[in-house]
Amino acid sequence: MSGPTPVPTPYWVAGKPRTSDSPVTVRSPYDAAVTGVTSNATAADIEEAVAAAAAVRDEVAALPAHVRADALDHVSRRLDERLEEVAALITAESGKPITWARTEVTRAVATFRWGAEEARRFSGTVQRLDTDPGSEGRVALVRQVPRGPVLGITPFNFPVNLVAHKLAPAIAAGCPVIIKPAPATPLSALLLGELLAETDLPAGAWSVLPMTNEQIADLVGDPRLPVISFTGSDAVGWRINDSHPRKHVLLELGGNAPVIIAPDWADLDGAAARVAAFGTHQAGQSCVSVQRVYAHTDVYDEFVPALVKYVRGLPTGDPAHPATHVGPLINADAARRVSDWVADAVTRGATLLTGGRTNGNAIDPVVLADVPAGCAVVTEEVFGPVIVVERVASVDEAIATANRSRYGLQAGVFTHDLRVAAYATAKLQVGGVVIGDVPTYRADQMPYGGVKDSGVGREGVQSAMLDFTEPKVMVLTEFVA
Ligand code: SIN
Repeated sequence: MSGPTPVPTPYWVAGKPRTSDSPVTVRSPYDAAVTGVTSNATAADIEEAVAAAAAVRDEVAALPAHVRADALDHVSRRLDERLEEVAALITAESGKPITWARTEVTRAVATFRWGAEEARRFSGTVQRLDTDPGSEGRVALVRQVPRGPVLGITPFNFPVNLVAHKLAPAIAAGCPVIIKPAPATPLSALLLGELLAETDLPAGAWSVLPMTNEQIADLVGDPRLPVISFTGSDAVGWRINDSHPRKHVLLELGGNAPVIIAPDWADLDGAAARVAAFGTHQAGQSCVSVQRVYAHTDVYDEFVPALVKYVRGLPTGDPAHPATHVGPLINADAARRVSDWVADAVTRGATLLTGGRTNGNAIDPVVLADVPAGCAVVTEEVFGPVIVVERVASVDEAIATANRSRYGLQAGVFTHDLRVAAYATAKLQVGGVVIGDVPTYRADQMPYGGVKDSGVGREGVQSAMLDFTEPKVMVLTEFVA
């Protein structure tokens, strides 16, 4: 049965709506229903957006803080007013269960609000210089000045909030910004464009341009865009970084997040429930989804059956249903890759404790034990609902095994012992450690990012603003304290 043809959603070129004759139909990963239609920007549109961003570079940098903050507050407020509609759109185009889509929009409301707040307080520092002979009476006024237009490249798994994490700090810091949304989920980003179009930001301050991966290559190399902020796969991210050494490139890439269950942790049932929930939510398609669990031998035999019980009880299915916890993967290729990796581990000797049945693009959440070293479910980022458990003899062994990874985004450590918490935080090679919970946690104002192949730079609104700007020093002489 075919319904009426949807009205194409426009994309945004220097703040103005446009459509092209290169249509893009967006379909639900759950049942292939048409979510909406948009179009890819033309080469002329892309050039217009970049030229406009370059032309307003100084104007945007000079905008008073209250103008930038008011625009961001407006987007935050309007997102909140349209929360249900935006959440439904996220679910329809990405297959994210509606409960998690609502959480994402709530977070994006906060991300824009934080942008407004940081725009108001981003002030620089005063540094005294009279610390050595010859600099008496001198102070340095250190201000962060915008580096210029930012190209934000965003993934499908948080199609609103990870776009917010490019837009909000760029606007707050005084940088024009061009967003290239994920091909699978352009509609949510275009809706943010609709809200930005209601503000007084200058034309050219922002654009949202769906495009093919071929079109992006020229844009990435364009010297008028000195900053690239990329969230996505490590292969693409590092290729961008390595091909453009003169650009300021920020990379938020993948991970295979470890969790350590220390022998002192009392509530093993509670830990199992958290690991089950956050190794599988939105089908494991989060960079900080729990993937590797290192349980101390004293707790392993109680923890693992509880984990399997909770994983088996997770509601799967239609992402639009309010009870659904695990929806589909983004497309058939992703589902096939995850299934193949699970099958490969089992062929090589792993024990499948639960899950693995496929249904369309969905996979019943998987728990694996006895996984031989070198299997992709351990070494790579699965980005699917797969949890691998391993018995360890000590916290030191857990830390060493967790560190045996090319990734290092976030880790979780279930311990009540402050010494273990501090020791693990010091030794784990990651950007952040969550004590007493899973690593699948991000408050949108906190520094967020990884080490090793997981990336370079930090998001979190203020951290990204520091990356989108550079210090400029004014030395004052004959300054009387
Ligand atoms: C990510 O998957 O990269 C972001 C995770 C989050 O924002 O919660």
